[in-house]
Amino acid sequence: MARTPLLAGNWKMNLNHVEATGLVQKLAWSLADGRYEPAKAEAAVIVPFTDIRSVQTLIEGDKLPLKFGAQDVSEHDSGAYTGEISADMLAKLNVSYVVVGHSERREYHGETDALINAKAKKVIAAGMTPIICVGEVLEIRKEGRHVPYVLTQTEGVLDGLTPEQVGALVIAYEPVWAIGTGEVATPEDAQEVCGAIRGYVESTFGAEAAAAVRIQYGGSVKASNVAEIMAKPDVDGALVGGASLNAEEFARIVLLSA
Ligand code: PGA
Repeated sequence: MARTPLLAGNWKMNLNHVEATGLVQKLAWSLADGRYEPAKAEAAVIVPFTDIRSVQTLIEGDKLPLKFGAQDVSEHDSGAYTGEISADMLAKLNVSYVVVGHSERREYHGETDALINAKAKKVIAAGMTPIICVGEVLEIRKEGRHVPYVLTQTEGVLDGLTPEQVGALVIAYEPVWAIGTGEVATPEDAQEVCGAIRGYVESTFGAEAAAAVRIQYGGSVKASNVAEIMAKPDVDGALVGGASLNAEEFARIVLLSA
């Protein structure tokens, strides 16, 4: 089964809604200049909550070949949870993707695999696609325990999902030591863990789910290194942080992955 790569630009806490529309417009122009074919690689912007409505209006109004997503979601449906945003609120804005369990959420907000699993289930129930992040810190990598560590995370975040649900979602392998550090994992490092994740999905959810699930690499991806990472058989795209804040650079990353 052919998997369409997903290049998702995680803006993190950058760009207000005015700046957001500027970047999305530039991104669409750069992609058009490069004769972008959405069927070959999907491009998505993962924006702050306050940008979503503006980005939605622009993308839908101008029929831009871009998807958009959110960076987090509440594990609750509604109610007295001050400051939280529900999956239904995001679905109402036609959000396609919701990142859950980013390492910055795990580190600064104490998010656990169980909580991330609960959030992913809310995203799926609302009809959107979760991008579920896993990845080891440097200490674990140095001890050579990265593969079993990431597979334990994967087991936790996918717990209780059906094979169909797993086949339809996105897993992002992001070694924490490579995020925002310029320290990119080698293509072989990326393949080792992405391949192991697909192997886990196959043994737990079956061959069909394993063939369908998209597994991204993330961590200091740039136009200069994306092609060699994307050439690996179990890497189906990238979750891009810093480089996605530059429209031309992110467009190049998408075009090089198509
Ligand atoms: P980076 O971030 O590309 O800036 O390393 C990746 C991410 O955190 O998703």
